Amino acid sequence: MKQIKNICCIGAGYVGGPTMAVIAKNNPHITVTIVDINADRIAAWNDKDLTKLPIYEPGLADIVKETRNKNLFFSTDINKAIDQSEMIFMSVNTPTKTYGKGKGMAADLKYIELCARTIADVATTDKIVVEKSTLPVRTAEAIKSILHNTGNHINFHILSNPEFLAEGTAIKDLLNPDRVLIGGESEEAIESLAKIYESWVPKNQIIRTNLWSSELSKLTANAFLAQRISSINAISELCELTGANVNEVSKAIGMDSRIGSKFLKASVGFGGSCFQKDILNLVYIARSYHLNEVADYWEQVIIMNDHQKRRFSDRLIKTLYNTVSGKKIALLGWAFKKDTNDTRESAAIYVTDHLLSEQATVSVYDPKVSSEKMQSDLNYLNTRTEDENFNLVQTVSNPYDAVKNAHAVAIMTEWDEFITYDWEIIYKSMKKPAFIFDGRNILEKSKMEAIGFEYHAIGQ
Ligand code: NAD
Ligand code: UGA
Repeated sequence: MKQIKNICCIGAGYVGGPTMAVIAKNNPHITVTIVDINADRIAAWNDKDLTKLPIYEPGLADIVKETRNKNLFFSTDINKAIDQSEMIFMSVNTPTKTYGKGKGMAADLKYIELCARTIADVATTDKIVVEKSTLPVRTAEAIKSILHNTGNHINFHILSNPEFLAEGTAIKDLLNPDRVLIGGESEEAIESLAKIYESWVPKNQIIRTNLWSSELSKLTANAFLAQRISSINAISELCELTGANVNEVSKAIGMDSRIGSKFLKASVGFGGSCFQKDILNLVYIARSYHLNEVADYWEQVIIMNDHQKRRFSDRLIKTLYNTVSGKKIALLGWAFKKDTNDTRESAAIYVTDHLLSEQATVSVYDPKVSSEKMQSDLNYLNTRTEDENFNLVQTVSNPYDAVKNAHAVAIMTEWDEFITYDWEIIYKSMKKPAFIFDGRNILEKSKMEAIGFEYHAIGQ
């Protein structure tokens, strides 16, 4: 088995950064270099002030402090890091295509292909190339073809090693993974990677499969997780009309050990960079094999999620006497979930866009998301001009400013601090009747009603 002494990771993002930090922490004998084309991102990773790291994840700054410039390095010198490493992780983004064939559905593999081509150009010694990004099943075939046709007679082994961490709990998930999955064709290459994980993951939790099972397992895991959320969200709509309470239904079904209790929290709709993109990709792959029933089945998870987001803002507007025109609506939370500054596909973006189209003015507070990010998320939708978004959306750094004179508060993210606010003060500062739309079911209905709020939660 090949002893790995130098690792390069291409892509210093939400996956590359935390994953490599944890590998470096547990393998002090290995030098890990994370490279990226984004010089600002690399500079932020190298910032002495650890609060300026480009990613907020509980526990991450401590590990970076412990390992950075000892055996963990951040650099823009991609070629050098590739050349010096025996193992290269590709951890670049694989967003949904926004152009050409497969637009809006397929994964855009241009970044991954560029990585493969750079590795092929630069490498002068044998390499193990690891797919860390989430990729369509059979991508390794294309990567293999690029690497093996460069004519420089170097041996490349390709492994698939998808990442299952969730944002907000990335470090916890990396330190205690349910499993590590390695797919490959070369046993020696597989064992080289397994050895790295064995320094902190129990051996029986490191599983080996063929390349295609590994690639497909990642898409399938995300599809199953998202499907559970859409399933309970579908039931939440029925609850609202029948007097059933979705929290009680979740608890009742989740205690069946065959169903399990996780990922049954009804919400305003799932967000994040991956669930939607990976399911769309799965749907696209199924359709490309003419498996229309399979494609339709999984597509319904996305249709349900879009419906849930829209339903939330429709209900808010309907409850506010069918108009929000000229009314101030306060949004608490912009991140797609708590404990992260990531806003990709966050339900808050779509709810705000809908409210703005109904001529509401929106005031937003999020403990970790900057106002620039909120504005750029809205501008990206292209629904109105940047100036209009800027004038209609007020972003504030104090939650009590957000709610002042608002007709309604909409809770979009389940940040713990929202529960501890002084809701009596909030009530006093709002227009009456004062409405709460709890998109995360984090507040207590009876408590809010006792204060005087008209409280609306999901599935209740
Ligand atoms: P990200 O956008 O945060 O980071 C990707 C980085 O790759 C960016 O900084 C970008 O500049 C860099 N990059 C792109 N092309 C490059 C190139 N040719 N050379 C050097 N750098 C390049 O993305 P992410 O959230 O870390 O996701 C990466 C992959 O991991 C995706 O496939 C995603 O589906 C998957 N994934 C993400 C998560 C998550 O929680 N975010 C979890 C599991 C898997
Ligand atoms: C998800 C998966 O959980 C990870 O295993 C996977 O590695 C990752 O996608 C990925 O491939 O990117 P992440 O998107 O970071 O992780 O966060 P989740 O905790 O899965 O939450 C996703 C969305 O679903 C959030 O908006 C969250 O609020 C929502 N959610 C989650 C619910 O609405 N209800 C739930 O019960 C759970």
